[in-house]
Amino acid sequence: MSGTCIQHATFPVPVFGITWPDSGEFNQQLETVILREQKADPGIVRSNVDSWHSSDKLLLGQEQWQIALRKRIKEVLTPAIVGKAVEGQELFDGWSVYGWANVNPSGGSNRPHVHPDSIWSGVYYVSDCSAIDGGDIIFSDSACIPVPKHASGQSFREFRIKPEAGQMLLFPSTLIHRVDPHQSSTPRISVAFNLSHESWELASAPWVDWKSFLWMHLPEFASKCTRWKQNALSAVGVKRASTAAPL
Ligand SMILES: [Fe+2]
Repeated sequence: MSGTCIQHATFPVPVFGITWPDSGEFNQQLETVILREQKADPGIVRSNVDSWHSSDKLLLGQEQWQIALRKRIKEVLTPAIVGKAVEGQELFDGWSVYGWANVNPSGGSNRPHVHPDSIWSGVYYVSDCSAIDGGDIIFSDSACIPVPKHASGQSFREFRIKPEAGQMLLFPSTLIHRVDPHQSSTPRISVAFNLSHESWELASAPWVDWKSFLWMHLPEFASKCTRWKQNALSAVGVKRASTAAPL
């Protein structure tokens, strides 16, 4: 008599997505704001390669487009919260968010990275890459589950999404992802964000190889340096503006 093999549902990695139809006018407004900001600010370097990354304060404010984006973020976050009650209560309130804009011109990309110090991360696509080569967001299997070799060279360890205008994705901040080089003269514009909640557990990112390790932990180290500096400043009575807004 043979036994029955069952598969235990252990740690599935969820990636949520919503595409809002009729986002044309909204995206046009976002594009105008972001390209104006790009002209005024040299930006910062994180995972961006030959691309522009704004400051982390993009979602901090009460402009209509900021309120509308935060509302969309709350919408895509909702299925991540449902069913995860703590002492009988699902934690829909108490989230804080900060975000930044990305502009990838032709050839621009983003290195593999995670978003340290956050719980959930996401991205909203202002421009459309559905009809062009390149610009895909690619999630990598951090759990290193054994898979057969694919004859075409395609990897089962990667999950690829072609961005559409009006689409928002949400994924665990520890999930490694990258952006393929963009291949269009029209820039690839997106808004990325990080979500935190003090009652949600902050997971440690797995270490895949030394490059990923370095890339994952350099921002964390930089973030720690910033916090040390902020603590030192607050100790002497100097207050700095936070980049996070309540969601
Ligand atoms: Fe990212």
